[in-house]
Amino acid sequence: MTASTGITRTEVLDLGEADLAEIHDLRLRAADFFVEVDDPPPTPASFQADLDDLPDGFTRVDEVIYRAYRDGRLAGYAEVLRRFAHEGQWMIGIVLVDVDMRSRGVGRRIVAAIADDARAAGISSLAAGVIALRERSLAFWHREGFTTQVRRREITIGDVQTEVVRLERRV
Ligand SMILES: CC(C)(COP(=O)(O)OP(=O)(O)OC[C@H]1O[C@@H](n2cnc3c(N)ncnc32)[C@H](O)[C@@H]1OP(=O)(O)O)[C@@H](O)C(=O)NCCC(=O)NCCS
Repeated sequence: MTASTGITRTEVLDLGEADLAEIHDLRLRAADFFVEVDDPPPTPASFQADLDDLPDGFTRVDEVIYRAYRDGRLAGYAEVLRRFAHEGQWMIGIVLVDVDMRSRGVGRRIVAAIADDARAAGISSLAAGVIALRERSLAFWHREGFTTQVRRREITIGDVQTEVVRLERRV
């Protein structure tokens, strides 16, 4: 089922206008992800802001974009931050798949490509952060082997008190 999913990797600094527009268009086709936690629907500006929403000491130099194509169309993407908690770790900041393309293994294929590259680069672990009330996202990360919980941080979304959970897996 995943055979026809093609994956590309691009340093964020190398993304041109056409790349940014293509990924923004995908984010519109996956806008449920943003609306679910009361964020406004995505805009080109909010995509740029997400690319700059990095921990202290990190810049766009540290970020790589993975894109998954099905039948020539962008079906999903991920933002990856190198050297996250330590030199031997990468952080998957977001994985987002077109609503119409979900549950067909696209997300799994993206994570597998990231894990393959990490292994080849001598990286020992991957991290991912997820808001606890996103139950289906949590199920996805658990199924992908992110079973080690390293940290929980409280956040409030609207009137709801929840947590950001950081998960890790070895590669
Ligand atoms: C999570 C997500 C990236 C998985 O991609 P995918 O291509 O659907 O993944 P796969 O086909 O490899 O796996 C499907 C599994 O993902 C999870 N999933 C499916 N739909 C989902 C959704 N709307 N939201 C979150 N997780 C979902 C489920 O565990 C699903 O298993 P199921 O098909 O048995 O129900 C994708 O569903 C998505 O873009 N969700 C919204 C964004 C998100 O939650 N990203 C992760 C946190 S950054």
